[in-house]
Amino acid sequence: MSDGKQDDGAARPDVAALDEQRASDEIADLSARIAQANDNYHVKDAPVLSDAEYDALKQRLLALERAFPQLARPDSPSQVVGAAPAEGFGKVVHAQRMMSLENGFADADVTDFVSRIRSFLGLRDGDLAFTAEPKIDGLSLSLRYEDGVLVQAATRGDGAVGENVTANARTIADIPHRLTGAPAILEVRGEVYMSHADFQRLNAAEGGRVFANPRNAAAGSLRQIDPDVTASRPLRFFAYGWGQLSQALADTQMEAVERLAALGFRTNPLTRLCHDAGQMLAVWAEIEQQRATLGYDIDGVVYKVNDLSYQTRLGYRSTTPRWALAHKFPAETAWTRLDRIDIQVGRTGALSPIARLEPVTVGGVVVSNATLHNEDYIAGRDSSGAPIREGRDIREGDWVKIYRAGDVIPKIADVDLSRRPADSQPYRFPETCPQCGSDAIREPGDSVRRCTGGLVCPAQAIEKLKHFVSRAAFDIEGLGAKQIEMFFADPALPIREPADIFTLAERDARNIARLKNREGFGARSVEKLFAAIEDKRRIPLERLIFALGIRHVGEVAAGILARHFGTWDALLGAVDGAAHEPAFAADDKARRMALADSPHWAELTTINGIGAVLVQSLVTTLTQPAERASIDRLIGQIQVIPATARQVQQTAISGKTLVFTGTLERMTRAEAKARAEAMGAKVAGSVSAKTDLLIAAPGAGSKAAKAAELGVTVIDEDEWLRIAGGS
Ligand code: IVH
Repeated sequence: MSDGKQDDGAARPDVAALDEQRASDEIADLSARIAQANDNYHVKDAPVLSDAEYDALKQRLLALERAFPQLARPDSPSQVVGAAPAEGFGKVVHAQRMMSLENGFADADVTDFVSRIRSFLGLRDGDLAFTAEPKIDGLSLSLRYEDGVLVQAATRGDGAVGENVTANARTIADIPHRLTGAPAILEVRGEVYMSHADFQRLNAAEGGRVFANPRNAAAGSLRQIDPDVTASRPLRFFAYGWGQLSQALADTQMEAVERLAALGFRTNPLTRLCHDAGQMLAVWAEIEQQRATLGYDIDGVVYKVNDLSYQTRLGYRSTTPRWALAHKFPAETAWTRLDRIDIQVGRTGALSPIARLEPVTVGGVVVSNATLHNEDYIAGRDSSGAPIREGRDIREGDWVKIYRAGDVIPKIADVDLSRRPADSQPYRFPETCPQCGSDAIREPGDSVRRCTGGLVCPAQAIEKLKHFVSRAAFDIEGLGAKQIEMFFADPALPIREPADIFTLAERDARNIARLKNREGFGARSVEKLFAAIEDKRRIPLERLIFALGIRHVGEVAAGILARHFGTWDALLGAVDGAAHEPAFAADDKARRMALADSPHWAELTTINGIGAVLVQSLVTTLTQPAERASIDRLIGQIQVIPATARQVQQTAISGKTLVFTGTLERMTRAEAKARAEAMGAKVAGSVSAKTDLLIAAPGAGSKAAKAAELGVTVIDEDEWLRIAGGS
């Protein structure tokens, strides 16, 4: 393997010139050599190949597998990456989304939660029970069993798509490989974590490489490419829920979890049944008291409605169930000195103040930066002008109290005036962009000051590009934040806007100063980068929409827009139409209201999940001439894969507009609305020519009369319950 020539993929015959037999021989040869190199590197800790040699072997194998896909083996080492553990895992589309939890902090959040559920279900004082159990601070895992056999384990990922970590999960002692007496399809969900004792032992054993906390250690260990490494790590698993099932486990949450325990899973012994908010708060206090001696990290208590038929009726918001609440423990805090306030400019131009701190340990993690939110927050007032921290402002040189809650950026809770230096000055928030010098202005009602430089502002342009290549957007391997900063400033081969990414290879070919001759690059890595870019020239519509970094348009909204319009041209058509509505104006509420009936505007704003603020931002951005020209250049370089409408079950009311009036007697208005929306209908507040169906309950008034006048179909509650499957 010291023979450099042989290891250099470029010296081998062109892939296209090979026949299947020779390709197969070479794949076998390369696979063996790469597997050997992996073993030397990861297990024996004695690498024999340079990184470049190793990459060359892998690139050659990939090229062969692309040319002869029938020869690619699922366990091919091309699927295994040496360095970053996150790469190389296959993707798993969850049969049922993995949700997150709504958070509560105060006692009132718990009482609100209980009364919201009562009112949603229309339960005045009937029995309503909740389970309360520790919220484990680890990472969630979904285990799929078919006919009692563990066939797949997947991380949560973005909730819809996770990583396939089956081989690794099989090495965890708490995870059974076989179950007896389980439903034919059973997805068990729970948390992978590491105990304090095991974490300490691991960190001591690993010497130099130390994990910040047990959660990171658990995540790092589960997401190892080599299952042998995972096997050597002391991971544990608590089961607390389920995904897809071929048959219900039980009628209540408590019994379902007991059933999981009977099947052989570890479930948390502190799980309790509560009948009101008072009992829930008592269990919370009890669990918090035990927190320090449990031997593993927990960060709160999770309450779940016990009756599973109620859970079904309550259903889900976009990412969280209505039937559960995570009641968090107070965050850990620490005092330190604030050295300096820096201003960062984000991709939408927002000026974000960052506190640079004397490093301090908070909850096991060293913190040296904290967010200061916005200028009001620094000045000691909230967005309505009311005082926060009793009006105490924050200055450079102050002693401040830091807290961390979850994985988010640390925040500042308070400031110690008794330690304020005598010569300190109130902080003056910049009124021009520190990056480009353009005016930074605050729109009325906005707490954020924004740079008005648009694409002229290098900070905005760079942040936009970083967003463009990020994981949920174009996800270009080898082109991350660091490379974007480098290329943005590059005089010979600049990337200043997304389109430039797709002309990079071509510009490089015409350039005298070729990329491959630069330091830090080699022929192999440049080839790899260009291949990764080529690979994304075809991009799904939803990714494109998200990648543009339009304010208020996140991943979820991008998905909704993509599925609604199907193609980029259709979306643009609606946007351009809305922009040409004579009264369109970005900030005039009255005129905005007047637009509600105009066809293009209405097409955008009546999409379920898309609000007026988002539409405003979408239309303004996509019709801004410089921005549009830049996007058009991008579109000229890529091929957009149209979106197909998500397979939703067709129901009797799919796509129809419903109006409820009067007082429903067997279902609350909130539940009826949620049910109608879940069945693909829209629910409007008033009757118009667009109404398809009016549900008139007792006490219906003018709406029923108007419906009759317009010839809208009117039904009563019994009929509605029949449609909604309630009786
Ligand atoms: S139930 C649909 N129960 O917390 C509800 N989650 O912040 C799914 N977690 O993603 C979650 N302990 O990883 C549930 N006892 C528990 C939990 C728990 C920890 C995690 C879980 C979830 C996250 C949400």
